[in-house]
Amino acid sequence: MTDKFKNIKKDFPIFARYPKLVYLDTTATAQKPKCVIDALDEFYTTCNANVHRGIYKLSEIATEAYEKSRKVVAGFIGAKSKKEIIFTRNTTESINIVARSFLPKIIRSNQGTVLISSMEHHSNIIPWQIMKKQLNFNLQVIKLTPEYELDMDDLEAKLKKYNVKLIAITHISNVLGTINPVEKIASLAKKHNCYVLVDGAQAVGHIKIDVSKLGVDFYTFSGHKMMGPLGIGVLWAKEKLLEKMDPFLGGGEMINTVSWQSFTPADIPYKFEAGTPNAAGAYALGKACQYLEKILPYIKEHEENIMKYFIENIFKIKDLTVYGPPLNKKIGIFSFSIDNLHAHDISYILDEQNIAVRAGHHCAMPLHKKIIKKPSTVRASFYIYNTLEDIDKLIKGLQKAVKILK
Ligand SMILES: Cc1ncc(COP(=O)(O)O)c(C=O)c1O
Repeated sequence: MTDKFKNIKKDFPIFARYPKLVYLDTTATAQKPKCVIDALDEFYTTCNANVHRGIYKLSEIATEAYEKSRKVVAGFIGAKSKKEIIFTRNTTESINIVARSFLPKIIRSNQGTVLISSMEHHSNIIPWQIMKKQLNFNLQVIKLTPEYELDMDDLEAKLKKYNVKLIAITHISNVLGTINPVEKIASLAKKHNCYVLVDGAQAVGHIKIDVSKLGVDFYTFSGHKMMGPLGIGVLWAKEKLLEKMDPFLGGGEMINTVSWQSFTPADIPYKFEAGTPNAAGAYALGKACQYLEKILPYIKEHEENIMKYFIENIFKIKDLTVYGPPLNKKIGIFSFSIDNLHAHDISYILDEQNIAVRAGHHCAMPLHKKIIKKPSTVRASFYIYNTLEDIDKLIKGLQKAVKILK
C-alpha cells in the first residue's frame, strides 16, 4: 500500500462504525471523509437559509458559501470561469439537460446522428433515446475492440459515414474500467464539426480532469462518486454553449423577469438552476474537491498497486473470467463472472463475510447482453481506502462462495 494512504481509513467514519467492512463498491458511490460530513453539518448549523433570496445576513452567508463552492469546483476541473459550473442533482440530470436543452439546437427533425459507445451507462443512452422519439435522428453505437477498448477505427468510420452532430461518451466505463482517449476523440470531432459530451461519473476523483485541455464541449459528473454528498452533481459546459441553450426546468431563481404570458431567463449559470438548490450539498462538494486536491496525484499509483495485486491473485479462483482491457488502459473497476454461478449468489455470500460488491448489469444492460454475453457480473471497485488485505479477503470470500455454490 502506498505509504501516503496507510492511515487514510481513519478519515472515513464509516470504517470506524463497521471495522470489518470491506467496501468494494466505490463505483456505485464513494465513502465520505469526515470533512465532507462535517461540511453538511456546518452548513445547516451555521448558515442555513435559502440562497440568492434574502437580503438578510444569514441568507448572504449561505449564498457566499454556495458561490464559493462553485469557484472551488471550477478550479478543481480547470474550468475557465465559475459561470461554466451548473449545479445539478447528478450525472444523469446533467446529461438530460444537454439532451433536452442543447440537442434540439443542433439537430433538426430527421437529420443528423448522435454517436454513443457500446460501454455506456444507461444514463448516457436513455436521454438520447427519449430525444430520438422527438427529433427522429439516427442513434449509432461505436464498437469495442476484443480487448474491451473503444474501437477508434469504427469511430472514425462512423464520423465519415454519418452526419454526426454529437458524440456522447463515457470517460471511464463503470463496468470495464476502460479509460477512453477523450482528447483524441475531441480532436477527431473537431475535424468533423461535431460536439462532444463526456460522462465523467467514474473519472472525476480518480484521474486529474482539466476540461479546458480536453477539448470537449460538455463534461458531467456526480458528487457522490468523488466523496461528495448524495444529490449534488455538475454540468460543465463552455459559456458560449450555455448561453445558446434554453432553460431545462422552469421556476424560481432561473428568471430575470416574469409576466403572465412570458419570462426572460436569468444569466448563466442560474438559468439552469430552477428552484431551491442543494446548497449544503454544493458546499460539501467543494470540501470534497479540496480533500481530493491534496491526494489526487497519489491515487493513480495506489490504484495501480491494488489492480496489480488483484490480477495476480484473482485467478486462484477457477473458471473465473474478468472483463476489461489491460491494466495500463483502465482504473480499478473489475467486473467478472465464475462459470455456472449466479452473480447475485456470489454477492450474497460475500456480504455474509462483510464484503460489499455489486452484482447485476450495473446499469449497462446492452454491454452485458451484446458484448459480455451474460445478464450479470460481479463488480469489485477500488479506491484510496482499499488495501491489499481487502483483496486477500475478497479472494478468500470467493473461495468460500465457490465451495458453497458448486
Ligand atoms: C459511467 C456512469 N455514468 C453515469 C452514472 C449515473 O450516475 P448518477 O446515478 O449519479 O446520476 C453512473 C453511475 O454509476 C456511471 O457509472
